[in-house]
Amino acid sequence: MIELHGIEKEYTRGSEKVHALTGVDLSIESGEFIAIVGPSGSGKTTMLHILGCLDQPSRGVMKIDGIEVENLPESKLVQIRREKIGFVFQQFYLIPGLTVFDNVTLPLLFSRKEIDKGKINSLLELVGLASRQGHNPNQLSGGEMQRVAIARAMVNDPEVIFADEPTGNLDSENSEKIFDLLKSLHARGLTIVMVTHNNDLAGRAERIISLKDGKILNQ
Ligand SMILES: Nc1ncnc2c1ncn2[C@@H]1O[C@H](COP(=O)(O)OP(=O)(O)O)[C@@H](O)[C@H]1O
Ligand SMILES: [Mg+2]
Repeated sequence: MIELHGIEKEYTRGSEKVHALTGVDLSIESGEFIAIVGPSGSGKTTMLHILGCLDQPSRGVMKIDGIEVENLPESKLVQIRREKIGFVFQQFYLIPGLTVFDNVTLPLLFSRKEIDKGKINSLLELVGLASRQGHNPNQLSGGEMQRVAIARAMVNDPEVIFADEPTGNLDSENSEKIFDLLKSLHARGLTIVMVTHNNDLAGRAERIISLKDGKILNQ
């Protein structure tokens, strides 16, 4: 589904160049459950953003469904991001003034799709929050907020979920629950790529990718 060949990424910080990725080759098949691990600063977030088309590499070739991303027009990339990819972040990024229900519908605004109330309700049911749909995020626990973020990531029926330390702000009990939820999405056929510092959770993925100094150590 996604291939990286010789991917490098440099950032410029003042006069200094930061080599965040220094030659990454990776192939992700549809339906995989992958954990990405590695020390802080090893390039995990950078790699996830490139895989999710949120950022572009400095060098190297990335293919989605066999097509080189560089050759795709921006409009097609936007479409891929909206229709194929869901993102989940450590910090949840819910909008405080909106209800749980409205937070989940947010991506539909950007893709100019109609809000199907039945569908939103079934997503909220899937994440176990049907009874909280009228609540504001500040009435929820961290684990519940992450469930809302996962429902939001699912609203455009993505093929793949990229989750960047989704349990990084959660206690172990809530981390387990979020991991189980991602597992249940995987069981429905989604591809899951999750960055984590939690070795126990990483060990339960189908494949572990270890990054160090911008390179993959082993798979
Ligand atoms: N926008 C940026 N500008 C400059 N340097 C960055 C930027 N984003 C990340 N970096 C640097 O790139 C390296 C990899 O960062 P990152 O991908 O966030 O690692 P990780 O997620 O594994 O902690 C780090 O040295 C980080 O400081
Ligand atoms: Mg990171």
